[in-house]
Amino acid sequence: MPWKSSRKPTRCTPASSKPNQPAAVVRAVAARPDLLQRLAVQTAERAQAQLQRRLRTIDTCQGPFVESGGQQLLAFCSNDYLGLAHDPRLVAALKTAGDESGVGSGSAHLICGHRREHAALEEALAEWTGRERALLFSTGYMANLGVIQALLERGELCVQDKLNHACLLDGAQLAGATLKRYPHADVDAAARQLHSNADGCALLATDGVFSMDGDIAPLRELAALCASERTSLMVDDAHGLGVLGEDGAGSVAEAGLSETDVPILMATLGKALGCSGAFVAGSAALIDGLTQFARTYIYTTAMPPALAAATHRAVELARSEHWRRDKLNVLLRRFRTGAAQLGLPLMPSRTAIQPLMLGDAQRALDTSRALEAQGLLAVAIRPPTVPHGQARLRITLSAAHEEAHVDRLLQALESLRLGASPTGAPV
Ligand SMILES: Cc1ncc(COP(=O)(O)O)c(C=O)c1O
Repeated sequence: MPWKSSRKPTRCTPASSKPNQPAAVVRAVAARPDLLQRLAVQTAERAQAQLQRRLRTIDTCQGPFVESGGQQLLAFCSNDYLGLAHDPRLVAALKTAGDESGVGSGSAHLICGHRREHAALEEALAEWTGRERALLFSTGYMANLGVIQALLERGELCVQDKLNHACLLDGAQLAGATLKRYPHADVDAAARQLHSNADGCALLATDGVFSMDGDIAPLRELAALCASERTSLMVDDAHGLGVLGEDGAGSVAEAGLSETDVPILMATLGKALGCSGAFVAGSAALIDGLTQFARTYIYTTAMPPALAAATHRAVELARSEHWRRDKLNVLLRRFRTGAAQLGLPLMPSRTAIQPLMLGDAQRALDTSRALEAQGLLAVAIRPPTVPHGQARLRITLSAAHEEAHVDRLLQALESLRLGASPTGAPV
């Protein structure tokens, strides 16, 4: 999700002062803006712009079906790309490890929270991604914050794709780095940004698969650029791991890039692996350094060991059950062929993320609601998550879907008459 502050500075009414306070204190207190009031104003403004985010409670979830508010919906918006989240073998691994190790890890990794389940999972992830070592983080967000803050010092250069996920951008801000963003997938522009400071340390960070667009970064070209510019390349493969590459090792493996080409590889465990958490993989020196300096690794509770055990099982299944990727690809082809026949404005993507570009935020919302009325869940993604004028339905497919599900989605989309106009623009 690209980071963009939608929160323009809003003036707010000074807080009221208490009686019997000295004049100087009253003046100072009276001038201090009330934070909660300002937040309320910003929230109201967002609602007025019809861009308010709403929370939906899911009562039950089985495969691609969810039940919410008494309605069963066929969902096309989960990141469970391989359909592993409900696999009984993962659930069994979670239960068994829970019986043995309890629920919480009880502590940070560096105190006494690092259990053998964590160590085994780290080894499995390093082996899968062809890296020397791996380090677990509790979420992908924390992994990206921690890595960038550990690597970059204040004022050093962090070059990023404009459509990078919010947490990569936030990582650069946390580090106090000089953040330079290049237009999406534009390697020449990335080179120009690097040349803006040719002498200092530099990190170039990119999503492997872009979370709201589904396309893949030009990884080979970026790796070549980074090699010639003595710049470290970091790839966030949250949406590539499990889906791309021969045994699902991700976009970096698919591009044939080694640890030397991409020294910092990060991926999440809550998407294709159907679990939760994240890891960073790379050289022993990288992992040793992160263990010392990544604050979001050091100062937080280790993920539950039973979750690590279930994730380990998920890694085994994601690697060995090739039919999941094959099935996903069959479904993707079926969806894209059907969408092309209907003239739907699908974005170019060969991954599980298949966004339907609708442009106007209200149109995206209306389309999502119309699908919901037909029992389908595909959430509208609107600004500030995506740029203005680029609201979309972020449709995702999963190996948990069947061909009949894809056909049902296509029929519903057809009924909404969303096809492109003769000029190619969505009508
Ligand atoms: C590209 C990318 N990186 C990182 C994250 C954050 O991962 P997590 O949900 O584990 O915090 C996400 C989404 O959630 C993502 O899409």
